Amino acid sequence: MSTRAIRGATTISENSKTAVMEGTVALLKDMIENNRLDIDDIISIIFTVTKDINAAFPAAAARQIGIVNAGLLDFPQFEVADSLKMCIRALMFVESELPQKEMKHSYLNGARTLRADLIKEEKHIAVALDGPAGSGKSTIAKMVAKELGFTYIDTGAMYRSVAFYCISRDIDYNDETEVLRALNDIRLSIVNTKRKQVYLLNNTDVSHLIRSPGVSAGASAVATYKGVRDRLVAMQRELAGKANVIMDGRDIGTNVLPDAQIKIYMDGAVEERAKRRFEELELRGITTTYEHVLEDIKQRDHNDSNRRYNPLRKAEDAVLLDTTMLSIEEVKDFIIDKIKDYMEE
Ligand code: DC
Repeated sequence: MSTRAIRGATTISENSKTAVMEGTVALLKDMIENNRLDIDDIISIIFTVTKDINAAFPAAAARQIGIVNAGLLDFPQFEVADSLKMCIRALMFVESELPQKEMKHSYLNGARTLRADLIKEEKHIAVALDGPAGSGKSTIAKMVAKELGFTYIDTGAMYRSVAFYCISRDIDYNDETEVLRALNDIRLSIVNTKRKQVYLLNNTDVSHLIRSPGVSAGASAVATYKGVRDRLVAMQRELAGKANVIMDGRDIGTNVLPDAQIKIYMDGAVEERAKRRFEELELRGITTTYEHVLEDIKQRDHNDSNRRYNPLRKAEDAVLLDTTMLSIEEVKDFIIDKIKDYMEE
């Protein structure tokens, strides 16, 4: 391992604490994800901000997303005529096995004009993976993403985060008006590190908290509201525009990414899906019973397939994969072969 340097810059729209924090979090996430770093790989970060920003220190945003062991420092940026306004820059020192020339630098929100040489159109590959609860989508998607270097996007986690927010604030998730009002206070983001994916709800890590059966039921409820779906679908499309992605959910092939190059619809007998989900919850130390999980999945299948907006449905051009009798390896290899066939075309 050697020390490498990664550059990043972004602009923000106003000099407020929220804008500094959100802008910096987005920048750091991009730098971490593009270089497949783990938080512990970061040695130090030097931030500079233009003189028109003084509402918060970018280093505070770094600490907020868990960068606590690295040395952090904020400096004012000296300005020359016509330089970008409201700009936050970062120089991140990391431990990496890759040569310096393979480090990927990040320029967001117009800051790319700082590096005109980097402006080019990129076409990304999208894999849409849909199916009912417990069909094994997330397990498979994670494995495929790891093997091919794609970004995994778990859209269910986004609906879960909205439900979790409501539950933790005593907001009735069956009350659409209340949920839509709460949506204004919710900021979601995903940080992909080398080893894991972290889901942030208002900059707090909720990755584990959103997995309980109570939150599953709430997620299925809030997912019926058009206002919630519109907001999350927009975010999902934006994420798919930035990288090669494998995205799992219910409406990815039909609605979120109708032009995805590869579409898979994974299904399986409800008893088998409940068994797998029960075992997964047990492994995570969540106490429940098989019967309870089976009921929950049946209820969610019903909700997810019968709702008005973007119900669970196989896209006409999706490949149907019944996983009841297949091993995880078989399913994974099938999907990887499909993606490789496409890439070699
Ligand atoms: O995949 P999951 O079990 O984590 O999803 C939780 C709930 O979110 C699921 O019951 C339905 C909803 N959901 C959805 O409506 N659309 C998606 N693209 C993903 C999930």
